[in-house]
Amino acid sequence: MNILVKISLLLTAFLVLSPASASTAAMPLAKLDIANDKESIQRGFEVYYNNCRFCHQLKYIKYQYLPDIGFDKAKVDALRGSQLINASLQSTMSEAAANEVFGAIPPDLSLMAKARKQGPRYIYTLLTAYYEKSDGGYDNKLMPGIKMPDPFGYSVANENSKVAIEAEAKDVVAFLNWAADPHADERKSLGIYVITYLIILSFLLYVIMKRVWRRLPPPVSEQL
Ligand code: HEC
Repeated sequence: MNILVKISLLLTAFLVLSPASASTAAMPLAKLDIANDKESIQRGFEVYYNNCRFCHQLKYIKYQYLPDIGFDKAKVDALRGSQLINASLQSTMSEAAANEVFGAIPPDLSLMAKARKQGPRYIYTLLTAYYEKSDGGYDNKLMPGIKMPDPFGYSVANENSKVAIEAEAKDVVAFLNWAADPHADERKSLGIYVITYLIILSFLLYVIMKRVWRRLPPPVSEQL
């Protein structure tokens, strides 16, 4: 069989068999612009600190990264207390205790915005998909049977509180999106230098190549 036919057959099989919607897409994800400004990320940190830290850790985020989002030294020192500056943000509850209470280990949130498909939109939708069941309990439309208690009390909030909670959820998503790639800004600015360097280098190599070739005899075809 022709190699191209084989490749296209393989690709088709892959597309058909791969679980395109592997996530628990019980409801469409909310449309959301992810904020990237320091104010939103800082507010999002506060939301994480007050609402998520009890159960979730951020093991790849260290206190020493927090000045990058605009916190000054005094604020970082107050947050870390007796912890070292290069310690990561721990949850207040141990994994074992959380597992016992909730029946699931709360996952690390450092990479969550990358780990889930359309991560930021997924997290936002998850937090605002809690609803009150007719028997008075709650469930989640995006992840039915979720073991995480409704962190903002969204399921029992009135319309006004829901708007406030949605704003908090947006902020925490901005923070978790930063947390999943805290060095993105640095890398982007370094990238510009690297590209400029490569352009200049290519130009110099081109000039050198021209000079070297000028000294060589013309190709055989032109000599005839
Ligand atoms: C009281 C404990 C608790 C709090 C507070 C809490 N969570 Fe969770 N979270 C859990 C547990 C337990 C799970 C595992 C759920 C499961 O597997 O059913 C979880 C799972 C998650 C998941 C993963 C869902 C998935 O796709 O598997 C995300 C995202 C998440 N939490 C975000 C947050 C955010 C953001 C906050 C703060 C606004 C927060 N959580 C507050 C306990 C908590």
